Amino acid sequence: MIHLHNINMVFYPGTVLEKKALKNINLTIEKGEFITVIGGNGAGKSTLLRVITGDLFPTRGKILINNQDVTTTPPEKRARFVSQVFQDPRAGACPNLTIEENMALAVMRGKKRGLRMALTPFHRRQFQEALASVKLGLEGRLGTPLGMLSGGQRQAISLLMSVLGPSEILVLDEHTAALDPKTSSSILKLTEQLITEKKLTVLMVTHSMHQALLMGSRTLMFNEGKIVLDFQGNERKKLNEEELLKIFKQKINEEYTGDEFILNN
Ligand SMILES: Nc1ncnc2c1ncn2[C@@H]1O[C@H](COP(=O)(O)OP(=O)(O)OP(=O)(O)O)[C@@H](O)[C@H]1O
Ligand SMILES: [Mg+2]
Repeated sequence: MIHLHNINMVFYPGTVLEKKALKNINLTIEKGEFITVIGGNGAGKSTLLRVITGDLFPTRGKILINNQDVTTTPPEKRARFVSQVFQDPRAGACPNLTIEENMALAVMRGKKRGLRMALTPFHRRQFQEALASVKLGLEGRLGTPLGMLSGGQRQAISLLMSVLGPSEILVLDEHTAALDPKTSSSILKLTEQLITEKKLTVLMVTHSMHQALLMGSRTLMFNEGKIVLDFQGNERKKLNEEELLKIFKQKINEEYTGDEFILNN
């Protein structure tokens, strides 16, 4: 379970550049919950995820994971609880290391032992099985440097890596945004499959209203550093993309075109 208590994130406080990216966020995420997160550019979505992964420490407020206060726990220690997949397929993995070396690093995440500990025949079989399941022909290419693969192939590996470690929480920041529609949809299928299989707790940022309502069981909408909508249960089931956009426009009460949202993708 994740508890966010009064989370505030201010960049460059007290200067002309001051930016309040998160304003008094209070949120409880139950174990196994799959939340989709939407909102306009600069609304605070990525900042929220970075506060959860420990990449940023909040200016004020408290974060509890499984009742343990992790507010100032650095990201490498928090990796035991939280893993992530970024928007950029090049982020979060080493291009010069091979597929198996990257996967071995993922297995060792949050542990003290080195890379070689995870390159045992047992682990190689585990990597091959995981790679075979994504049907991209990568199971025979364990020794290929990651930098030689396409964006979609790398994103599939990033996802597999994110679930190889011990963490039960997964954060996804527009992780299919850089991919073509076909690859994006197969990566989304893989995402759902891994989340169900591993019973993960998930926060997934997307600009697609369709994905936001289709995937997961709860949708949060951000605007100007605040959660302005929180839909779940029957209320969410009844919603479609157009209605969601309409409610958002009413909520922020201003002339808003919704251009940054993709309705039917
Ligand atoms: N490291 C930083 N330094 C200064 N300001 C930042 C930093 N990171 C984010 N911000 C600011 O905080 C606000 C929220 O940014 P954030 O990246 O969380 O938005 P977002 O909702 O993820 O937007 P997008 O949909 O464009 O990815 C923005 O105004 C942004 O300029
Ligand atoms: Mg973002």
